[in-house]
Amino acid sequence: MDGDGRAAGHGGRVQEGRLPRGSRGLRTSGGRKDLMPHGRVAISQITFRDSAPEEDAAIRELEARAFGREEEADLALDLMAGPVETLSLVAVREGRLVGHLLFSRIEGPERCLALAPLAVDPDFREMYVGTELVRHGLKRAREAGWKSVFVLGEPNYYGRFGFRSELADPAVVEWQGPFLLAMELEPDALAGWSGPLVYPEPFSKV
Ligand SMILES: CC(C)(COP(=O)(O)OP(=O)(O)OC[C@H]1O[C@@H](n2cnc3c(N)ncnc32)[C@H](O)[C@@H]1OP(=O)(O)O)[C@@H](O)C(=O)NCCC(=O)NCCS
Repeated sequence: MDGDGRAAGHGGRVQEGRLPRGSRGLRTSGGRKDLMPHGRVAISQITFRDSAPEEDAAIRELEARAFGREEEADLALDLMAGPVETLSLVAVREGRLVGHLLFSRIEGPERCLALAPLAVDPDFREMYVGTELVRHGLKRAREAGWKSVFVLGEPNYYGRFGFRSELADPAVVEWQGPFLLAMELEPDALAGWSGPLVYPEPFSKV
């Protein structure tokens, strides 16, 4: 990672203005979803829940398919197997895994998480699966007593949930820059905080 915020981060290469997009995020002038290969899949047909240990292989496959490479799949599985606390959520439709979101503990502010990776099956993009996964994940993290979350990602996407780069500015970390964002799960959790942010070891390989 070159640390300027556009490097291959914890969820793929962050490009100017956009996150890496799937090839099948089809739209028409009439609105989204019209051309999705699975037809109109209502978000209500998708279940969001914690992942189960027997879903590791399906998570690996989904991550690799979503990112088009193995690095994020390895990251997710290494983190989930490792000693650091994680929260792993999946989106499931009719028994098929269509999305995955992982949080893992980082050292820095008290009870702090990193959000990475976030992956949605290319066939289910632009249906708010990613949005709902993040919403469910943040709710789950708050309920579990986590106080703040950092992500390396597109401000337009993550800003909708309350992530802001200003909150992440005091963090000293290799990938500090405009794409490093943070949000508080508890009011003022990051107020007055500054210092190093130490990610679990598997992040050094991405
Ligand atoms: C990025 C990703 C998770 C988005 O998932 P998704 O379920 O298709 O996204 P949503 O349907 O929830 O998108 C919600 C909104 O964000 C926008 N959006 C979708 N993908 C986006 C992207 N890559 N960059 C910026 N905005 C994006 C949508 O257009 C939509 O906007 P609208 O509300 O104005 O219509 C998915 O494209 C993916 O898995 N990409 C490959 C892996 C990746 O890059 N992960 C994120 C790393 S930080």
